[in-house]
Amino acid sequence: MRNDLRAGIVGLGIGIPHSVVTNYDLEQCIDTSDEWIFTRTGIRERRVAPHGIATSDLAAQAALQALQNAGKTPEEVDLIVVATATPDMPWPSTACLVQAKIGASRAAAFDLNAVCSGFVYALWMAAQAVETGAYRCVLVIGADILSRQVNWEDRATCVLFGDGAGAVVLAPVDEPYGVLAGVLGADGTGAPLLNVPAGGTREPLSPEALAQKRHTIQMRGREVFKFAVTIMGEVSLQALEKAGIPSEEVALFIPHQANIRIIQAAAERLNLPMERVFVNVDRYGNTSAASIPIALYEAWAQGLLKRGNVVVVVGFGAGLTWGACVVRWV
Ligand code: UT7
Repeated sequence: MRNDLRAGIVGLGIGIPHSVVTNYDLEQCIDTSDEWIFTRTGIRERRVAPHGIATSDLAAQAALQALQNAGKTPEEVDLIVVATATPDMPWPSTACLVQAKIGASRAAAFDLNAVCSGFVYALWMAAQAVETGAYRCVLVIGADILSRQVNWEDRATCVLFGDGAGAVVLAPVDEPYGVLAGVLGADGTGAPLLNVPAGGTREPLSPEALAQKRHTIQMRGREVFKFAVTIMGEVSLQALEKAGIPSEEVALFIPHQANIRIIQAAAERLNLPMERVFVNVDRYGNTSAASIPIALYEAWAQGLLKRGNVVVVVGFGAGLTWGACVVRWV
């Protein structure tokens, strides 16, 4: 094991459904308004996957683009980690379905579920796999189709979420570049705050569960909000401390895109001006595990990530879970 080996992000890609649902569209079906949604969340519109499109379809699209941008072929991939809470089916894993779709025949594949924190969890775990020298080309994908788990009659949740996928390719890079530090956390006592109660082994799908919509997202929004505004800043500072980097040196802060007010609170905690914070929640809503890799991709595509830049990615989600990684862009 080499101590100077780091995992660098060497390619990025996205898989985004074309269909856009605006706040005005939602006004037509539920008792809400563009004004309420935008002022409370910062969301203007979200993407919704059409019937027939599953999580692995978006994930595979993102993966192929990331590989192309990395200049690598599917045969070079030796590990695929898909962070998702909305797999194509209970099993096998969505990662295996992606492996087959893209023809990554040499790759091991598994899913990781930390809901909206899933991408940060997967990134940090995969970075360890690369740093040990055990894996040399890892696809880390965040993909979710939450529109299929939303109760479209519940205005408190259905306005928040959207669908999508984002992928990065991790490969060995030399110091001082790559993923420098990560901090992950969980508090399972917070599970009742945000969950999908039915459809698992505790409460299998039944006519009663379906009638009561217990197979859809249940959320105590205000409590999740309070947790999020504190944890996003805290865990980012912990990861920066672990990396030995002061927050003034952060060139770009890429938080989970759930709510603009949560993002602003986290930026304030780090003393970062909003010019150094990437925001696209207005166009995608909360895409769960996909939100950070989609934002990373867009930041990269806009030329905002330059060699040597310090980037912090940070997420929170159901579980409760949270995590942050500090990356020096290669
Ligand atoms: O990845 C993690 C996912 N979860 C989150 O990020 C959620 C975190 N929480 C939040 O972002 C916020 O709590 C919300 C945006 C969900 C809600 O904002 P809030 O300021 O906490 O509003 P609230 O839930 O306290 O509701 C205020 C009012 C209520 O009406 P009354 O009881 O005051 O008459 C709601 O019924 O707003 C009403 N309301 C709506 N009105 C119009 C709730 N949803 C809507 C809606 N349109 N879509």
